[in-house]
Amino acid sequence: MTQEDLFKSLIAHAKEYGFIFQSSEVYDGLSAVYDYGQLGVELKNNIKKYWWDAMVRLNENIVGIDSAIFMHPKIWEASGHTTAFNDPLIDNKDSKKRYRADVLLEDYITKIEEKIEKEIVKGRKKFGHKFDEAQFRETNPNVLRSKKKAAEVTSRMNEALGSNDLTAVRQLIIDCDIACPVSGSRNWTEVRQFNLMFSTKMGSVSDDTNLIYLRPETAQGIFVNFLNVQKTARMKIPFGIAQIGKAFRNEIVARQFIFRMREFEQMEMQFFVRPGEELKWFEHWKEVRLKWHNAIGLGEDKYRFHDHEKLAHYANAATDIEFDFPFGFKELEGIHSRTDFDLAQHQKFSGKKIQYFDPETNESYVPYVVETSIGLDRTFLAIYASSYCQEKLESGEERVVLRLPAFLAPVKLAVLPLVKKDGLPEIAKKIMDNIKIDFNCQYDEKDSIGKRYRRQDAIGTPFCITIDHQTIEDNSVTIRYRDTMEQERVSASEVRDIIEKKVSLRTVFAKL
Ligand code: GAP
Repeated sequence: MTQEDLFKSLIAHAKEYGFIFQSSEVYDGLSAVYDYGQLGVELKNNIKKYWWDAMVRLNENIVGIDSAIFMHPKIWEASGHTTAFNDPLIDNKDSKKRYRADVLLEDYITKIEEKIEKEIVKGRKKFGHKFDEAQFRETNPNVLRSKKKAAEVTSRMNEALGSNDLTAVRQLIIDCDIACPVSGSRNWTEVRQFNLMFSTKMGSVSDDTNLIYLRPETAQGIFVNFLNVQKTARMKIPFGIAQIGKAFRNEIVARQFIFRMREFEQMEMQFFVRPGEELKWFEHWKEVRLKWHNAIGLGEDKYRFHDHEKLAHYANAATDIEFDFPFGFKELEGIHSRTDFDLAQHQKFSGKKIQYFDPETNESYVPYVVETSIGLDRTFLAIYASSYCQEKLESGEERVVLRLPAFLAPVKLAVLPLVKKDGLPEIAKKIMDNIKIDFNCQYDEKDSIGKRYRRQDAIGTPFCITIDHQTIEDNSVTIRYRDTMEQERVSASEVRDIIEKKVSLRTVFAKL
């Protein structure tokens, strides 16, 4: 099965089992907007709890807030979003399709890189065990030509985008001979900037003075509350403010399921530090955040840093934590050293002093900020896609299993009476009533036990217990483990502790 087919089948699986639905599906859907179903919301809440507790509960110098989505419109002028939060767009005149010009170019570069990898595969086949990949990459004329081309296009693209030279961006598309994937033609319009913020009107009068925006990031809600939090919580620098919440962006090229959405959730933390100490904290947060990802247990090779070569004018360091999604390594989290840009801008635009008096240095200053910003939906996708597995069993049967990390699984335990009679359902419900106080459980008495196990495998339930006639005699149950499918007989009174050991956040936090 190709990666593309696998991705399609996991999207279908997410719908079939109530993880994710297309928004407004009965009206044929709303593009790039999704609803989380009954299991999706549980998984999402578990991810949020993991992030929140690791950030806020375990760090005495970080507190959380929940700011409003609507904010004063001047905030977006101060932050630069009204003027600079744009995507460069280009239309194909024949297909009438609209594209992000930078994405067309990035896809072109990716194709060149794929060509290089194909050459490597060819070389390996040709030279067998004598193949020296490093030498081949440095000497093969086809590889060298492709590498040179990719470097040239990347450099011209960065230059053109960095200087906002839209004519140069268009020229590069022409020079690369990029055709519209739909019409196949090279009949392109000019490149234009398109602002990504959604706007609406507040109050009853609908003129432009009432224009407000749906926030495109949660971070600004933190910046404008800096003094409120610092004073009321008596925080001393260095300290952080964390927030989980919705953000909205009118993404033009919305694709790859919940990877790029128009309404999504962010988990952001702004860490306020003394000017001059920001790069030390930037390194600190890089390390801490990577540990947080690794502790989930999807595999350390799935993550990598991608340092930004070209920095935004307000940043003095920036990196992405990229994840190996089914469509390649892509950004999952951004870590940015944003200097004093945001607080200084809000000080300027609001006319209010936004400073911190440092009792250790006897100085007042605008703090510098190191930000960690992770997409909740992308984290969901990373975990979901890595856990989705189609397996062939020794018996020749196939099963679909979601190998979700147990602490994140929506349902921790399925309680299954072997038959629907002889008092077994009553005993099963009694056991479940006791355990459901601590963990999310599901009761299922329909169909054969094998079918019920498969249903639980498909939603990632790490434990199933079966209640049978022996339970009546000695209060023992069969516990079955999702990943190994092994079964053992244990006392019903032990089940809670067995689950606790495997799903407790304590074990995960020990790795941080
Ligand atoms: N405050 C900084 C900020 O918003 P960003 O890199 O634009 O930085 C941070 O966004 C994270 O938000 C990204 O790493 C990504 O995980 C997530 N994100 C951004 N745009 C998204 C979208 N359209 N759909 C889903 N997640 C998105």
